[in-house]
Parts: sequence; structure tokens; C-alpha cells
Amino acid sequence: MTRVLSGIQPTGDIHLGNYLGALRQWALDQHEHDSFYCAVDLHAITVQQNPEELRAKTLETMATLVAVGLDPEVCTLFVQSHVPYHTELSWLLECTVSFGELRRMTQFKDKSMKQGDSGQEHVSAGLFTYPALMAADILIYDADRVPVGDDQRQHLELTRDVAERFNSRYGETFVLPSAAIPKIAARVMDLQEPTNKMSKSAESALGAVGIFEDVESIAKKFKRAVTDSSNEVRFDFESKPGVSNLLSILGAATDRDPELLAEDYAQYGALKADTADAVISVLEPVQLRRSELLADPAELDRIIARGAEKAGEVAAVTVSRAKEAMGFLSPS
Ligand code: TYM
Repeated sequence: MTRVLSGIQPTGDIHLGNYLGALRQWALDQHEHDSFYCAVDLHAITVQQNPEELRAKTLETMATLVAVGLDPEVCTLFVQSHVPYHTELSWLLECTVSFGELRRMTQFKDKSMKQGDSGQEHVSAGLFTYPALMAADILIYDADRVPVGDDQRQHLELTRDVAERFNSRYGETFVLPSAAIPKIAARVMDLQEPTNKMSKSAESALGAVGIFEDVESIAKKFKRAVTDSSNEVRFDFESKPGVSNLLSILGAATDRDPELLAEDYAQYGALKADTADAVISVLEPVQLRRSELLADPAELDRIIARGAEKAGEVAAVTVSRAKEAMGFLSPS
């Protein structure tokens, strides 16, 4: 059976891009594959976090994963730091990946530049070695398939390269994973600046749609979404990024082809209104489930503990395989 692994950082508010680009796919995958999903709190600390906030966000993220339809009886849901084998394997992989490979990662370049721009001179070494930890997350579960948005493509390529290098140096140890990137909405763009991807740290509050936002606010954001002055509905990201972003959001929310959808619209206003309605009807059941879950914290604790146990059992085996292959003396 195919093994699936993916993760999300427990920082900021989970937005429509996370949902359409990744979480929705996770919910489908759990029924077809042996799936592992985690809140990657160890990745979150590559930039400084407030401890109380990190704790609260991690819990909230786990509730969100259940709310989007991940069934703890069907898949394994866990918190990354509850399985310490991730950091152990990460070190082995840091010694397998090269400095040059890490330096080429666009996400590192973007994030370290942003830190500098915001007056924060401090760029942690963890931000630089982040992709080795991400490779460990994936390889430790022998994952074949990694459902992610388009922005993680380069990290996945690096993970494959690292696994291949390890296997050729020390013998077959790791499964080579592939990124599973959705055809539509793999890169949901900011509603105000449609040439930037929607992100948790958006410049304008109107640019990103949180998945738990109230419906009036969602409708307002789509109404105000930036388009262009030509009033021609066509799917073409190069020349019409705003309109194309709306079409792909609508396409993803209704399972229709954005290019064909464009033919149904003569006006931007109707496209915006229909996109808002479609997004609201996809998100409403998710919002309802999360409120029920947060009202029952004991159940959430139980889910998290069970997930750590299941994930830990698999991770322990892979790490000892990797250590054995590398030549570590086993403690007898
Ligand atoms: P993170 O937390 O930034 O995002 C979680 C998932 O959401 C996707 N995503 C998007 N998809 C479409 N449009 C967008 N605007 C958009 N923004 C985010 C991301 O591609 C991701 O799939 N490094 C990862 C977390 C991670 C991970 C892993 C993922 C750590 N270890 C192992 C997969 C496997 C990250 O920061 O995702």
C-alpha cells in the first residue's frame, strides 16, 4: 500500500491556499493510502515563536486537521515533536545534504530576505537546514507520496536527491518519495496581490482568506479581490493573474476546469460572487466540526497521544535502519 506523509506548520491562521493546495488532498488520500499527517512544530521554531502561542497554535492545528475531515481512526495524526526520531534522522541527513544544495532553496532565500527586511537581522541556522528536517519527516515514514502545494516542489526534489545519495553511499535504505501536487489551485494567490502566493504572513489582511473566517468577511474579501481593468474573463495567469486566481479557486471548490468556467462569465462581479459562495459552502462544514472539537479537549488529547504512538513505532524502525547502514555501533 502506498504510504503518504505530509505536514503543516502550526503558525498563523490556516488559509484557503493551505486547504485547497494540501489539506483537501490529505482528506482524500487517507481513504486510499496509509497516511501520516503532522503539525510540524519543529519547523515552526526556525523563526522565533512565542511559547504560549506555539502551544495554542499546535493544539488548534490538530483540531483543524480533524475538522477538515482527517479521521484519526483512518490515518495517523500527530505532532512532529512528539516523535523525537525526526530530529535524530534530520542530523544524519544534514550530514548527507550539501551546503550548496541548501543555499539554492528559494524558500530559504525568500524567508531570510524577509527577516532582513523586517529589521530582524537574526536568521537562524535552523532556517537554513530546514529542508534536511523536512526530508527526515518524509523518509522516516518510507513515504512514496507527499501531497503538497506547488511551493514545496523544490524541497521534495531535494528530499529525493538526499535519499538517492544516502542509498548509493550506504545501500538501499530509503524509499524515494514523489510530490503529489494538485492540478488546480496548487498555488492559490493573494487576493490583493495576485502575483504573490496567499500566505499566513500576507501584507494586507484582505489578501488571505482564513478557513475559519466568518462568512461575511469571506464574501467581502472576494468582492474586493483585485482583478484588472479589461473586464474580460479569461484563464491566463500571465496577463490576468487576479481573474485566473478566482477561476482556479472556483474550479477547485466546485471540481470544474477553470478554463471552461471562464466561458460562463461575462462580468467580474458575478465571478467574484460565485467564487465566494463556492468557498463558503466548502468551508462551512469544516468550521462547524472544529467548534465541536475544541469543545471536547480530552478527545483531542487522546487523538494526539495515539498518533504519536503509531508514528513513533514506524519512525523508530527507519532510524535504526539508517543508523545501521551508516555504521553506528548498536547499543547492545
Ligand atoms: P506550510 O505550513 O507553509 O503549508 C502547508 C501546506 O499548504 C500548502 N500551501 C499552499 N498551497 C496552495 N496555495 C498556497 N498559497 C499555499 N500556501 C501553502 C503548502 O505547499 C503545504 O503543502 N515545509 C512545509 C511543511 C512540512 C512538510 C514536511 C510538508 C514540513 N515537513 C514534510 C510535507 C512533507 C510548510 O512549510 O508548509
